[in-house]
Amino acid sequence: MRKPLNRVINYVCKKRLFHALPEIEDKLLAYSKGSATTGTQWTTLWFAVDAILKTKPLHILECGTGSSTLVLAEAVRLLQIQDQSYHPLITSMESVDIWFETAKLNLPAEYSDIVEILYGPRKKFEWAMYRGYIHDNIPDRPFEFIFLDGPGYDDEFGTSFCADVLFVANNSKKERLTGVIDGRTSSAFVLQNIFGVGASRYFLPNMACKFNLDMGRLKKQHISTDFHSNLFGALRLK
Ligand SMILES: C[S@@+](CC[C@H](N)C(=O)[O-])C[C@H]1O[C@@H](n2cnc3c(N)ncnc32)[C@H](O)[C@@H]1O
Repeated sequence: MRKPLNRVINYVCKKRLFHALPEIEDKLLAYSKGSATTGTQWTTLWFAVDAILKTKPLHILECGTGSSTLVLAEAVRLLQIQDQSYHPLITSMESVDIWFETAKLNLPAEYSDIVEILYGPRKKFEWAMYRGYIHDNIPDRPFEFIFLDGPGYDDEFGTSFCADVLFVANNSKKERLTGVIDGRTSSAFVLQNIFGVGASRYFLPNMACKFNLDMGRLKKQHISTDFHSNLFGALRLK
């Protein structure tokens, strides 16, 4: 059941994306000639574009550069055509030097004012009881929206999680942080543990997540060792 459902959802999201960004199909085709990428699911891309078009974030953080960078940049470019006072920046982090060089070389010139691609090798990040990986060198910027699709998160101890969202949240002066996750179920699982299920809905058939996090909750949880159990013995952090 999952695969047909996934295909239908992905197809609908692809159609919506192409409708919202009429030039993106040709631009992605041209980009794919210069750079093979693993790509991102249409579902996640549409979740991201829909949110960006609606909320017009000024600082976007992309974790895992590639064809998704073009999609985010094209959404921003369309917004700029409608509103010339809108000057956002997409900070795109890439953890592998060869893919970093490839992505920089292939970024279309029309996006050079909108996108900054930075090299950030993966680095361990630990927070309370959680163990994960972030990109090194993430600049201190007031990020409002995060697109999470990297770095690698498996190591000699098994599967950890991509922790860039938690890293940014920990330093954020904003009240809320929104974004999407492509795949990376463990990252959404950690966010659900900390911020609650309602703050980061994950849709397993299409492995895509939207999140909207309340920073107040993070500050409290960091110092909390209190647990709550329900009638059925399920534990959660207070
Ligand atoms: C899931 S991919 C990120 C894909 C990116 N968001 C996109 O839409 O193309 C995660 C990482 O795989 C690496 N990568 C990029 N292109 C690749 C390729 N063609 N083959 C294998 N790995 C690649 C990069 O380090 C990238 O950050």
